[in-house]
Amino acid sequence: MVPERDIARAVAALQAGDVIGLPTETVYGLAGDASNPAAIARIFAVKGRPASHPVIVHVPGAEHMARWARDIPPAATQLAARFWPGPLTLVLPRQPAVLDAVTGGQDTVALRVPSHPVALAVLRAFDGGLAAPSANRYGHVSPTTADHVRDDLGGEVALVLDGGPSHVGLESTIVACLDGTVRVLRPGRVTRTDIQAVVGPLHDATTAVPRVPGSVASHYAPRTPVELVDAAQLPATLATHAAAGRRVALLTPGDGQSGEAREDSGVRARVDVHAHLTAADTPDGYGRELYAHLRRLDRAGADTIVVVRPPDGDLWLAIHDRLRRAATPRA
Ligand code: TXA
Ligand code: MG
Repeated sequence: MVPERDIARAVAALQAGDVIGLPTETVYGLAGDASNPAAIARIFAVKGRPASHPVIVHVPGAEHMARWARDIPPAATQLAARFWPGPLTLVLPRQPAVLDAVTGGQDTVALRVPSHPVALAVLRAFDGGLAAPSANRYGHVSPTTADHVRDDLGGEVALVLDGGPSHVGLESTIVACLDGTVRVLRPGRVTRTDIQAVVGPLHDATTAVPRVPGSVASHYAPRTPVELVDAAQLPATLATHAAAGRRVALLTPGDGQSGEAREDSGVRARVDVHAHLTAADTPDGYGRELYAHLRRLDRAGADTIVVVRPPDGDLWLAIHDRLRRAATPRA
């Protein structure tokens, strides 16, 4: 765990307008004071992210909601009570004082109380809102370890708090509670079923309003092209790449023998792949490891990353969403 003096250093850096790498249970964030325009500008500069993209404001507890949001509907209060601290972000009507740089100029603000003990300790000591997008360069795979943050943003952040590997490993579920509707804007570990159990039937997410730039199709992508295939297609896919002399890095779903990633399994013996990782066979394990796997395969020096689709179902939805985005070519 992170020593108390490092928490104090982090809070001092944030109060001075610096940005830090902050562990959360979903992914690591690039955090700065959400009330300080210079800190927000620094976040966008470090990430290389378009300024029109809104960022999530992290707060120490639900009692901070009214400082940032107004006309908070009962559904939002219920969802906060059920899932905070945790991997859920609520999009609500904003308070007028919230910086346009935080909201992307929209009438809404996104709020989350993370459950990671280090994030909570920093937020409680800071006693304000921390704007924090994922601590990766724009469009790259989100970081789930302190090393991932240093790899992407190393010299540009005041410090990176090392809270160990992110337990969830996928970005938070984003739910908009606006105009009397409840809509899922980004799937995550908190599923539609989980949300419906609290607030009843959901409205369908429309793509346009509010804008969710994280839903840009090619987000979360490694540099090596990613190809998503069904297990039945794998032999033909590998044969095609082999015939073309292309080097393949392969991610296959777990076979039920171990929840942990293993370096190799039977597939490699049968086909000539450059690198091969086997994912966990549970959605929790798969989600926790996915980004670390993609980063490793990205570094393998292959021409293409082939990912064999994991199982379907509500609990796998967020994983399929991120895999689809990783496999979408950049514009
Ligand atoms: O798990 C997470 O949510 C992580 C950790 C660090 O908390 N953060 C994260 O932030 O994924 P970022 O910036 O990479 O993605 C935030 C998403 C973006 O898709 C953004 O468009 C959306 O939240 N968002 C932020 N404010 C919004 C708003 N007012 N209305 C609609 N979408 C918003
Ligand atoms: Mg992101």
